Amino acid sequence: MIQEDFSIGIFDSGVGGTSIWKEINQLLPMESTLYLSDSKNAPYGTKSKEEIIALAIKNTEYLLNKNCKIIVVACNTATTNAIAYLRAHYKVPFIGIEPAIKPAALQTKTNTIGILATKGTLNSALFEKTSQKLNSKIQIIEQIGAGLVALIENGKLESEEMTHLLQSYLEPMISEQIDCLVLGCTHYPYLIPQIRKILGSKIHIIDSGQAVAKQTQKVLSEANLLKKAAATSKSSQLFLINSNKSILTKLLADGEHKKSLQIIETDF
Ligand code: DGL
Repeated sequence: MIQEDFSIGIFDSGVGGTSIWKEINQLLPMESTLYLSDSKNAPYGTKSKEEIIALAIKNTEYLLNKNCKIIVVACNTATTNAIAYLRAHYKVPFIGIEPAIKPAALQTKTNTIGILATKGTLNSALFEKTSQKLNSKIQIIEQIGAGLVALIENGKLESEEMTHLLQSYLEPMISEQIDCLVLGCTHYPYLIPQIRKILGSKIHIIDSGQAVAKQTQKVLSEANLLKKAAATSKSSQLFLINSNKSILTKLLADGEHKKSLQIIETDF
């Protein structure tokens, strides 16, 4: 039987989902978490739907074998391609992440929003369905962030190559008068300083991290699986990565998190 002191399982194609882990840990510090960074198989965004489903199954089964009480798919590409399959085949609750185009559509004044995401997300049926539900006056400028995830996984966040890629993706959107940019990949929040430099201060940058943390809290609470706040001192935060752990360690090294984290290189 699932118990409240089991961990929250989280997976991503790599280190990007830690942007979601940070939101979850901030909102639910009493919870233990087990994060899988499937960096050996990154990027997912260029893979077929069948390949993404197979990787999502591998990660899910690993987390379930470690007794996770809920699984957060901290990857837009895996959510948009595989979450329906996962929900149909496993009993545990799943929380997914999708690009925040609905909040952006409510916020835009120019009726033009930009979205930067992987090919796998932008080509998915789920993304197509969500975009079709928006007010028809809203124009969405879609851009595949080819190469961005690989540069982040290799620790090249502040490289010239990154700046050039971001300029080539974002400048055409600025010309189209976007006033909101949706970050449709959990790796991209780590690029906000560089993106901000290109966009200037007037264009809103929107991601779904906080919404995912709140939804995780809501689902756990409804299932009576939230850990009691008093148990915070007993929580553990474990990160497994199946490739070199240096970039993961670097991204997690900010702020007060650092001391209580365990980061382990292992295959899964
Ligand atoms: N973090 C994943 C996402 O949110 C990156 C996908 C990839 O590996 O290409 O889509």
